[in-house]
Amino acid sequence: MKGYERKSRRIKIDEGVLMQEKIIIKTRRLSCFPVNQGYLKFLLKLWNEPDIMRYAGFARNWSYAQIKEWYKKHKKRLAKYGNTEIQFIHKLRNGRLIGESGIGRLKKGWSCRNYKTQKDKLVLMTDVKLAKPFWNKGYGTEAMKTIVQYVFTRTNANILLVPPHRDNVPAIRVYEKACFKKTKGIWYRYHMIYEMTKEDFIERSLKEKGILITSILPSSK
Ligand SMILES: CC(C)(COP(=O)(O)OP(=O)(O)OC[C@H]1O[C@@H](n2cnc3c(N)ncnc32)[C@H](O)[C@@H]1OP(=O)(O)O)[C@@H](O)C(=O)NCCC(=O)NCCS
Repeated sequence: MKGYERKSRRIKIDEGVLMQEKIIIKTRRLSCFPVNQGYLKFLLKLWNEPDIMRYAGFARNWSYAQIKEWYKKHKKRLAKYGNTEIQFIHKLRNGRLIGESGIGRLKKGWSCRNYKTQKDKLVLMTDVKLAKPFWNKGYGTEAMKTIVQYVFTRTNANILLVPPHRDNVPAIRVYEKACFKKTKGIWYRYHMIYEMTKEDFIERSLKEKGILITSILPSSK
């Protein structure tokens, strides 16, 4: 029974991605967890705010009924396809809600201008949005690093992408600080593609622990 309970918290989808629905990730100042109905008003406020959405699509101008509808469909998609997407909320350790990150899976072999993924690679896309009072305090970078850690330790993703607008300097800075690399890809219009591969992630994690892997084996002499 215990084993069954553990399994039921992890939803497996066709490619073997594991995204845990009931997970809380804690960092020094933040905690990050999947959205539930209780956080819809907060999400609505973020997604309706023109300054926040300036480079992230557009202010949605949704009503509460519309976000409830979005949530219903989100849950339906999770039930039907498994966890191909996940909507995280970022919260300060003192309980204040500060932002969100959505993660979605792209189709195998997905491509856009100047960027193509290999058919056997599992590619996820994400971003981060924070409420204005929390900008420029390092929270965006901390939140993004949390998402990166989650993706490469709890899912089978090979590549994680972010699509910042070319004029969105703070977002580009956050992605660079989280160690994403700029590619030549253009997602749409002025949105670029920054990428991180699982190999990049592992190499960086090892480097942080003082371990360096080189391709040349030391001589046995
Ligand atoms: C993008 C966003 C998440 C950044 O979060 P944040 O908490 O402010 O980020 P951080 O504090 O970790 O880092 C911001 C960096 O940008 C820099 N920055 C901010 N405004 C800048 C500007 N106008 N010009 C140059 N650098 C700027 C900061 O100095 C900092 O870099 P540093 O640490 O090297 O000094 C936040 O601005 C946001 O929510 N924007 C609206 C939503 C959005 O556009 N999301 C991205 C979608 S792809």
